[in-house]
Amino acid sequence: KTPLRIGVAGLGTVGASLLRLLAQRRAALGLVAGRPIDVVAVSARDRTRDRGVDLSGYTWFDDPVALAREAEVDCVVELIGGSDGPAKATVEAALARGVHVVTANKALLAAHGMDLAVEAERRGAALAFEAAVAGGIPVIKTVRESLVGNEITQIAGILNGTCNYILSRMEQDNLSFEKCLAEAQKLGYAEADPTFDVDGHDTAHKLAILASLAFGGRIDADAVRVEGIRSIKQIDIRMANRLGYRIKLLGVAVRTADGVEQRVCPTMVEKTQPLARVMGVTNAVNIDANAVGELTLVGPGAGGDATASSVIADIVDIAQAGSRGPVFAAPAGDLQHMERAPVKD
Ligand code: NDP
Ligand code: HSE
Repeated sequence: KTPLRIGVAGLGTVGASLLRLLAQRRAALGLVAGRPIDVVAVSARDRTRDRGVDLSGYTWFDDPVALAREAEVDCVVELIGGSDGPAKATVEAALARGVHVVTANKALLAAHGMDLAVEAERRGAALAFEAAVAGGIPVIKTVRESLVGNEITQIAGILNGTCNYILSRMEQDNLSFEKCLAEAQKLGYAEADPTFDVDGHDTAHKLAILASLAFGGRIDADAVRVEGIRSIKQIDIRMANRLGYRIKLLGVAVRTADGVEQRVCPTMVEKTQPLARVMGVTNAVNIDANAVGELTLVGPGAGGDATASSVIADIVDIAQAGSRGPVFAAPAGDLQHMERAPVKD
């Protein structure tokens, strides 16, 4: 059987986990996919860094764009990060020659997702991004495929593992914001620039992607009203607790009569509610849909292995089906801006 040849651009927290898990589960994945999945090329900045994985069997590229342009691959996995720069150039170079793309990069999708989706469709390539929202939770597949028979009216969730980790540790162990953030960085949860996490922008990127899939419009991250957790102090957490609440950074997108309202802000959640019980790096996505009613997906929102798990799901989908057709709910070329609901205070 013809293997699916993979190039991995970015060998940090997620990329190194991906290589390790693909090697460990090579036989099982080949069976499910119906053909072998072979990593043939890799790229990162520092060739000498020990990543805990054997790189000797792969062609090394110092430049990820050269990998995307020149390597003999069927699928490029972009795990570099950032909305522009090498990540965007790598994805564009792969799509330009009809090579499938898997990415975990929500910042890139929030800024350029629609243009990239149009280009992928034009070239007959897949653009897959299960790992970009809520790490290991299969929420993209749930919203795009499993709930296709529903009209979704609201999505609300804890979408940033770093923030939930910080808020949980501050409450449970009485630690400072700074110490908890340093821990989240050490554990590989935080973005290269953690202000994206703590100021709420990462949650906004994920929310805008989900809203686009759920409500059938363009990704509109600029329409999200955003407030992060930087100003939350121990006193806030203790007062909330005393009143029977926990502070959670929630992203909420609601379909209203006036359009779609999207907001990200620290929210007091009653301790009896399921979202209040979600602690640590865990994420949760609560969906209201007309046919199924309400459902909540809970699982690890960040971390190398959990995120690589979602990347592998996309790779296997591509190996099975090649291109999966339109990336978003409607053919990307036909999508209109979601109507923004007026901001309410
Ligand atoms: P890391 O910072 O750990 O890894 C980034 C990788 O990209 C490194 O291997 C780095 O090379 C390489 N890289 C960075 N800049 C360049 C460049 N200019 N040219 C070539 N290579 C470059 O990131 P993560 O693995 O944590 O995240 C990767 C992506 O996955 C991001 O989009 C992130 O948002 C997303 N994501 C991350 C999750 C997580 O839990 N960490 C969860 C879900 C999504 P080198 O190693 O040599 O420095
Ligand atoms: N920095 C992100 C988080 C990674 O903490 O949720 C997962 O997208």
